[in-house]
Amino acid sequence: MKKIFFPFLILVLIGLHSCAQKQSGSLKQAYAPYFKIGTALNASHIEEGDYDGVLLVRKHFNAITPENVMKWELIHPSPTQYNFALPDAFVKFGQRDSMFMVGHTLVWHSQLPQWVQSITDPVQLEQVMKEHIFQVMGRYKGKIHAWDVVNEALNEDGSMRESVFYKVLGPNYIAKAFTYAHQADPNCKLYYNDYNMVVPAKRQGAIRIIKELQAQGIPIHGVGMQGHWNLNWPSLQDIEQAITDFAALGITVMVTELDITVLPNPWDLVGADVNQQFQNSEKMNPYPNFLPDSVDIQLAKRYEDIFKIFIKHHTVIDRVSFWGVHDGVSWLNDWPIHGRTNYPLLFNRNYKPKRAFKTVMAVAKLQETK
Ligand code: G3I
Repeated sequence: MKKIFFPFLILVLIGLHSCAQKQSGSLKQAYAPYFKIGTALNASHIEEGDYDGVLLVRKHFNAITPENVMKWELIHPSPTQYNFALPDAFVKFGQRDSMFMVGHTLVWHSQLPQWVQSITDPVQLEQVMKEHIFQVMGRYKGKIHAWDVVNEALNEDGSMRESVFYKVLGPNYIAKAFTYAHQADPNCKLYYNDYNMVVPAKRQGAIRIIKELQAQGIPIHGVGMQGHWNLNWPSLQDIEQAITDFAALGITVMVTELDITVLPNPWDLVGADVNQQFQNSEKMNPYPNFLPDSVDIQLAKRYEDIFKIFIKHHTVIDRVSFWGVHDGVSWLNDWPIHGRTNYPLLFNRNYKPKRAFKTVMAVAKLQETK
């Protein structure tokens, strides 16, 4: 009896699991008439170790960005060393389901190896930047559809961040990076990507950069507004204003890196500067075991409101990408305080859709009936 019962039980459990996967609807299908729905992959997805995570990716997302594996420090750690194994696997992962792939990122002050940061000669730094762009983009020419060419070049007041690129090459480094990127793969879409673009002063800085490129005839096809937001900030009006201001430049608008923290914020920090870290404590980590319904409901409403704005502007938005597949792998568990339990995404740690998933799906369905 036991011998028959056990395999039967396994089959029932597998059936229930795949049934649960089938029932909840698919984000990418619901949003297909409006924009791509993306996510960020870490090594456990790329190598397909996180089996349930991979199922979520393949079911719900039609655009992918590597969360870390294409960053300079990892892909090009020393002048003559390139690590292409994981980036190659990322591309293979996306090709299997014809996903839209965004390379992230070519020129960024952070996760930049010391050997690049210590270059002081402009001719040498330009050559190094050019070679990096040609090697990395060149390898994936015709395969990766778009690149975040320059990431986070601005300070909060809209002035230029004093990165090594800015200090050694001057403000024109951005034009050079986009020019080399276009030469490396002329058909690839080229983006500028930054956080806090909803803040008017910073947004003006981005608009200035984009207009300067356009005035010089240098290709820039889109702007990525990173959505590292919280339950109360930014205002819906500021989100909408940012979308319309960027769309007015005649380029594609993307919401990239979307996640909504539900945890208290030390010193009311906003943004995503990875160099800022604070101490953990019970007060700062209020939901170590589960997310209370009241907060889950707030998160669901927040996502609903935000997606209503995205849908309203769907003709200018090309993609909305979440920064992570499920709560368990979000960078927000470790930033700005290490070791907290955060709940910023649409799927929980057990790979199940949260209330926020349902409200986001409902927004698309509501639009369908209009
Ligand atoms: O892989 C190492 C591991 O070997 C080591 O033991 C461990 C110890 O700390 O670190 C691991 O590397 C971490 C890496 O994530 C992979 O998990 C780094 O410390 C950590 O700094 C890194 O954080 C990433 C961060 O960028 C810095 O590159 C986050 O995962 C990633 O989500 C975050 O993404 C950025 C975007 O690229 C740009 N916009 C802001 C966004 C959030 O900061």
